[in-house]
Amino acid sequence: MTAPLQANGPIIENVALGDRAYDIAIGRGLLATLGARIASLRSGCKVAIVTDETVARLHLAAAEAALKAAGIASSSVVVPAGESTKSFRMLERVCDALIAAKIERGDLVIALGGGVIGDLGGFAAALVRRGVDYVQVPTTLLAQVDSSVGGKTAINSSHGKNLVGAFYQPILVIADTALLDTLPRREFRAGYAEVVKYGLLGDLHFFEWLEANWQEVFAGGPARGNLAAPREFAVCKSVQAKAAIVQRDERETGDRMLLNLGHTFGHAFEAAAGFSDRLLHGEAIGLGMALAFEFSARRGLIPQAEAARVIAHLAAVGLPVKVSDVAGDPLRQSDSAASWPGVDAMMDLIAQDKKVKRGRLTFILARGIGQAFIENNVDAAEVRAFLAEQLSR
Ligand SMILES: NC(=O)c1ccc[n+]([C@@H]2O[C@H](COP(=O)([O-])OP(=O)(O)OC[C@H]3O[C@@H](n4cnc5c(N)ncnc54)[C@H](O)[C@@H]3O)[C@@H](O)[C@H]2O)c1
Ligand SMILES: [Zn+2]
Repeated sequence: MTAPLQANGPIIENVALGDRAYDIAIGRGLLATLGARIASLRSGCKVAIVTDETVARLHLAAAEAALKAAGIASSSVVVPAGESTKSFRMLERVCDALIAAKIERGDLVIALGGGVIGDLGGFAAALVRRGVDYVQVPTTLLAQVDSSVGGKTAINSSHGKNLVGAFYQPILVIADTALLDTLPRREFRAGYAEVVKYGLLGDLHFFEWLEANWQEVFAGGPARGNLAAPREFAVCKSVQAKAAIVQRDERETGDRMLLNLGHTFGHAFEAAAGFSDRLLHGEAIGLGMALAFEFSARRGLIPQAEAARVIAHLAAVGLPVKVSDVAGDPLRQSDSAASWPGVDAMMDLIAQDKKVKRGRLTFILARGIGQAFIENNVDAAEVRAFLAEQLSR
């Protein structure tokens, strides 16, 4: 592997964005250092912690204790858990609470939670007093490897997900991998889909390492010899991959689109499932990546065996890899195949997600494992035929 990571002490990655650069600290038990790290960045600041009810129950006391130990006064804003919290109503509630807590320029907001809290808390920080600094303390695997890196913040609109937001970078990210010990396995697995994504899009060696070590990433075991422990290693490689892309293209005008590998198909299924517990985001991305590799093979870009290898790994960890792997819609009490909208409705969802220019779609496809590229010229009719076949499998 590239650069062996040392076993002892936290791993520090820097996101090099000029005057918006910041560190990401990764390691087991780092929450205890929250206060000291903040004190060294901002002496004498006040802090407000934005979190959700589930995370508050599990980890808020430890975060408050870490701040108190460094002599930092804190208050907290606790919102309900779940995607529906990324709303105008909750944004107003959080902004009002931050103002009531007298958070001013020079003070700090801490987003303690998964991607929902990172997106909502970060956006509130961008808005209150025209912007106060914030720190991300991601508590899900998805948030540690994806949403806490890169400064995208947003809430949802009635027209769709993440439609109201801002690019607003944190000043520090603390990824304490021990916090993931309380995460339900299903949530961990969904976040793992994004970890696999970094291997698939740009790093064959990392994908091979994941094939061999994924069980220990899930288990969160200790360091081996003088190498970092598997979970910390996986988080670190993912953060490095995302940071490298964000540094090249902060505002997603080019390369950052590569991060959408699996997301065009995935978002369509996520939307068709109504963004419900039926299909978590990461699960949709697992399915979407399987389809993107299958589609790449179908177009002759990669050997079928290579797509099969990708699909085998996703299936081994328990992610859905074909449409029928997703459980049926409980509301309709029907079997899974019959409970997806038809191919035309699915194509509409794909067209909504991505710009369609004269019947051409943009997809992230692959010329090999670790060699994703942006293909702007995919024939919608070809996608439709492929999808019709997948929906009937
Ligand atoms: N900003 C970005 O670049 C970006 C990137 C990807 C995803 N996102 C957004 O992230 C969101 C999804 O994030 P998520 O998957 O973290 O969802 P989430 O924040 O809803 O967390 C998932 C569930 O896990 C619970 N939870 C969080 N930490 C826990 C812990 N340590 N132990 C036990 N339970 C815990 C939460 O309360 C929640 O119920 C979506 O809204 C998505 O749009 C943003
Ligand atoms: Zn994603």
